[in-house]
Amino acid sequence: MRLHVADHPLITHKLSVLRDKRTPSPTFRNLTEELVTLLAYEATRNVKTVPITIETPVTTTQGVEIARPAPLIVPILRAGLGMLSGMTALLPTAEVGFLGMVRNEETLQPDIYAERLPDDLTGRQTFLIDPMLATGGSLIAAIKYLTDRGATDVTAVCLLGAPEGVAAVEKAVDGLDVTVVLGALDERLNEHGYIVPGLGDAGDRLYGTV
Ligand code: PRP
Ligand code: URA
Repeated sequence: MRLHVADHPLITHKLSVLRDKRTPSPTFRNLTEELVTLLAYEATRNVKTVPITIETPVTTTQGVEIARPAPLIVPILRAGLGMLSGMTALLPTAEVGFLGMVRNEETLQPDIYAERLPDDLTGRQTFLIDPMLATGGSLIAAIKYLTDRGATDVTAVCLLGAPEGVAAVEKAVDGLDVTVVLGALDERLNEHGYIVPGLGDAGDRLYGTV
C-alpha cells in the first residue's frame, strides 16, 4: 500500500477551518469540495492516459487523453457524497458508482446498505472517496467490494486518517495495488473510535443532522 499525506499550507489551513466545531455546514461543505480538488491532484498522479494527435491553430502535435475504460469514482455514502463534486471537477469524464455504508457505533463494524456499481471492474482505475479513515473497517470493506468485482488499482482519498486505521488497511490489502491519499494523519482514535483531534462526525457536520 502506498500512503501519501498532503503537505501543503492551503490544505492545512482549510482543514483547520473544518476541524473548528463552530464552522457551519454550508462552509463545511464548500471547504470539503475545495480540499478534495486539491487532494485529487495528487490522487490522480498515475491516472492512465493514451497518446493522441491534436491540431493546434499552428501545427499538429501530440497530447494525451484519459484512457478507457473511464476511471470510476465511488463515494462511500453518506459523508463521501460531500466529496463527489470536488473529485468530478478534476476528472469530469469519470463514471460514478455508489456504496452506502454505516458504521455500527457500538461494534465499530461497517454495514453495507446500498450498492450501485458496475459488475465488472476489470482494468478500471477506481477512486474511493470518504472523508474519514478511522478504524479502517469501512475502507477495508469498500476495497474488498471493488476487488471482488475485478478492480486491481484502487486509490482512496480521505480528508483525515488515524494511524490505527492506516495500519489496518495496510495489513488487509497486502499485495494489492492500493494507494491512500490523506489530507492529514491525525494522532489516534479515542475510546469511541473517533479520530483525535479529528473534526467530529463528518456526515453530521456536512448535512447538519447533529
Ligand atoms: C463515517 C465515515 C466513514 C466511517 C469511518 O461514516 O464517513 O465511512 O465512518 O469509520 P471507520 O474507519 O471506523 O470504518 P459513518 O459510518 O458515520 O456514516 P455516514 O457517512 O452515513 O455518516
Ligand atoms: N467517522 C466520523 O465521521 N468521524 C470520526 O472521527 C470517525 C468516524
